Amino acid sequence: MVMATKNILVTGGAGYIGSHTVLQLLLGGFKAVVVDNLDNSSEIAIQRVKELAGEYGNNLRFHKVDLRDKPALEQLFASTPFDAVIHFAGLKAVGESVQKPLLYYNNNIIGTITLLEVMAAHGCKKLVFSSSATVYGWPKEVPCTEEFPLSATNPYGRTKLFIEEIFRDIYRSDSEWKIILLRYFNPVGAHSSGYIGEDPHGIPNNLMPFVQQVAVGRRPALTVFGNDYNTVDGTGVRDYIHVIDLADGHIAALCKLNDSIGCEVYNLGTGKGTSVLEMVAAFEKASGKKIPLVMAGRRPGDCEIVYASTEKAERELDWKAKYGIDEMCRDQWNWASKNPYGYEAQDSSK
Ligand code: NAD
Ligand code: UFG
Repeated sequence: MVMATKNILVTGGAGYIGSHTVLQLLLGGFKAVVVDNLDNSSEIAIQRVKELAGEYGNNLRFHKVDLRDKPALEQLFASTPFDAVIHFAGLKAVGESVQKPLLYYNNNIIGTITLLEVMAAHGCKKLVFSSSATVYGWPKEVPCTEEFPLSATNPYGRTKLFIEEIFRDIYRSDSEWKIILLRYFNPVGAHSSGYIGEDPHGIPNNLMPFVQQVAVGRRPALTVFGNDYNTVDGTGVRDYIHVIDLADGHIAALCKLNDSIGCEVYNLGTGKGTSVLEMVAAFEKASGKKIPLVMAGRRPGDCEIVYASTEKAERELDWKAKYGIDEMCRDQWNWASKNPYGYEAQDSSK
């Protein structure tokens, strides 16, 4: 298969998972066009991806566009034929979604519908979507298989659930569509160069970005949300996956879009559960930094144990995560120590 000619539109490609995926796309010989409104990201990430891609860097284009700006999307599709779209763009802060549900429904759902309308109008009907393990709600058992019942406990989760349903309806209405819904578990880590990584705006919601900010002295301590769960040490258990493994999962999914795929869903996880305290211990080992802890009550909406069944992705996408938590923490620390204030403090990375 000649990949060099494939032109991929990546929405939200300046963000954490998007930037790593764009790099893997370029290194895999794809051309990538990123659209992002930079709401939760920096154009510096795009510049760095270009640099990391070396000679392939010229195959990357960036447009600061909001997905809901239909004329801008129309113009892009009119000027560039795309083979497929990877759709990352969306807001993802669970707590904020509870405070501002309309913002989340507007951004995530209207953004997706606008994208789908423009894709259909231009005959581009291949898409990979960022769904989430959040659609399993509090699973009755683990590992989570793709057939588990779906539910959501907050507006963010409901946007993922609704968008999944929209994709299933689109496919039912027009079988030319080839759609892969990827349910990510907990992406962490960074590219091994330490040149790109996760740089959330505001106070981090997720465990590892918070831990990294404690390690570099930006925050005094990590609050552990709940130590009375029925788990190995009482803290919540999740399936952490290296962001590069996750990025590679998207390449595997893109290749699968060439088959008679229809609308399929795959978990992207490692199949292994790790507690908060185990993750903190792995990070302390990797960084040599002590992470002060404050024990607190459970975070509303959190569940006890979530990890993936990886069988379907292994069997059908021929994809399997390669990295463990030690490598995830090593690369997270490499990024954090080189960029303690993220992208905007450029000099700190030198
Ligand atoms: P991110 O915030 O780093 O990246 C999302 C990108 O989308 C950002 O660059 C943001 O500026 C952009 N964006 C948002 N709304 C936009 C719009 N209307 N138009 C154009 N660009 C817009 O987040 P991420 O962690 O890279 O997540 C990527 C996707 O994966 C999201 O859809 C997220 O919900 C999903 N996901 C993430 C996780 C996680 O834990 N990181 C887990 C499961 C699913
Ligand atoms: N945690 C803490 N302190 C913190 C942050 C998190 O103790 O400051 C704990 C949580 O209670 C949980 C674990 O660390 O036990 C992981 O929490 P994250 O917020 O990092 O991840 P979640 O599994 O709760 O949720 C994330 C995303 C969701 C997504 C889900 C699955 O926020 O949007 O992963 O992909 F759906």
